[in-house]
Amino acid sequence: MTTVPRVTTDMTSPLLARRLANAGAASILFYNQPLELVRGQGAWLEAADGTLYLDAYNNVPSVGHCHPKVVAAIAEQTAKLAIHSRYLHEIVESYLERLKASFPSDLANIVLCCTASEANDLAMRIAMRATGRRGFIITENAYHGSTLATIDISPALWKRGSPLAYVRLVPPPSRRAYGDDITGGFTAAVAQAAAALEADGLGLAAFICDSIFSSDGVLTDPPGFLGPVVETVRAAGGLYIADEVQSGFGRTGAGMWGFQRHGVQPDMVTMGKAMGNGYPVAGLAVRPELLSQLCEDIVYFNTYAGNPVAAAAGLAVLDVIEQEKLIDNAAHQGAVLLAGIRDIVAGNPLISEVRGAGFFIGVEFAGVGAPARVKAIVEGLRQRRVLIGTTGRYGESLKIRPPLCFSDKEVAIFLEAFAEALAEVTAAPDGPGTGPVHD
Ligand SMILES: Cc1ncc(COP(=O)(O)O)c(C=O)c1O
Repeated sequence: MTTVPRVTTDMTSPLLARRLANAGAASILFYNQPLELVRGQGAWLEAADGTLYLDAYNNVPSVGHCHPKVVAAIAEQTAKLAIHSRYLHEIVESYLERLKASFPSDLANIVLCCTASEANDLAMRIAMRATGRRGFIITENAYHGSTLATIDISPALWKRGSPLAYVRLVPPPSRRAYGDDITGGFTAAVAQAAAALEADGLGLAAFICDSIFSSDGVLTDPPGFLGPVVETVRAAGGLYIADEVQSGFGRTGAGMWGFQRHGVQPDMVTMGKAMGNGYPVAGLAVRPELLSQLCEDIVYFNTYAGNPVAAAAGLAVLDVIEQEKLIDNAAHQGAVLLAGIRDIVAGNPLISEVRGAGFFIGVEFAGVGAPARVKAIVEGLRQRRVLIGTTGRYGESLKIRPPLCFSDKEVAIFLEAFAEALAEVTAAPDGPGTGPVHD
């Protein structure tokens, strides 16, 4: 095993002190020794001390950090006109038409937003108005946003308390929850939750799920498991909202949208993150009649959303995905990455399951020591200049989610570092696995 020189960020650094003083309790930083980044290009990030890190975590700069075509599109449009959406602008309509072409044709309206929290918030309102019902079904560790409404359907961020009456949680579609019959078990759980909402007099407004269940641990298999779930939701009078913030824009390698892997047709699709490659662009694709119903009650306006600069960024992202064949790259290199990880973990008793689709991979660790081991791997990879994250209700899984431009060389660098970090954790005398289950 290579000896790795330790990364030594000064924990008394003035920048860290300033961050904590400025952002207070809302400041969330990765790593035992937080990382200061100054530049990005492709799949690489440069820290303030000049160290280069391979980014296998960030999905916002999805077509690559600071992609020159996206940067140029933003700069050019900013220099011409940046204004709200109450005037006509060609680039905005061109963008909406290009985006719409990627959806089933009945999702014929798109509302642009600045964040996906706004998009999900709006989707919730539309669902309640259209169905006349109030209940929502979500998975146990779902994350859908941080507004007053979406935090109610985002247990991943709850530190205490329990769901409000209008929100029903179901165990996520995992082998751990349902054994071998993930489809049957998950469908039955959703049916039961819908019946409970009906019995409570709330009824089911919508089932909303992240199409790759990112915060629940990256749950990808078997493709198609959402089919019977969506039928059940509709039979109960509810709508199906596909949250594509994580799985959209080609990440799964199986088309533009994660729901396509499941052969289902959503009533609404929400999106964000990768949409502007770093420029804040988010949105909601919706059937026109659903949107019209809400707009009988309220005027929807969002100052920054759908401005020509956002549209220019979004359009450039779509161009780059197409021109650089990034969906094919996610499918092909993602499969190489997944196979490489499976080879490395084969026979390792610490690991219970490896799951993935395209460039979105989850590696689940077994037992009560899992969260601490996962953290140790993330730190071990950081020491080897590779960035990944954690996921799952207890932080029991690794989340590997590189920019879609990740090349074969970068896959090889990742796999070498991953093998070393895993070997280090596997060889630790008691393992770091004596840590708490919850953290
Ligand atoms: C699945 C999912 N939905 C919604 C959101 C909220 O997005 P935003 O931070 O743009 O409001 C996130 C953010 O991480 C997400 O992962």
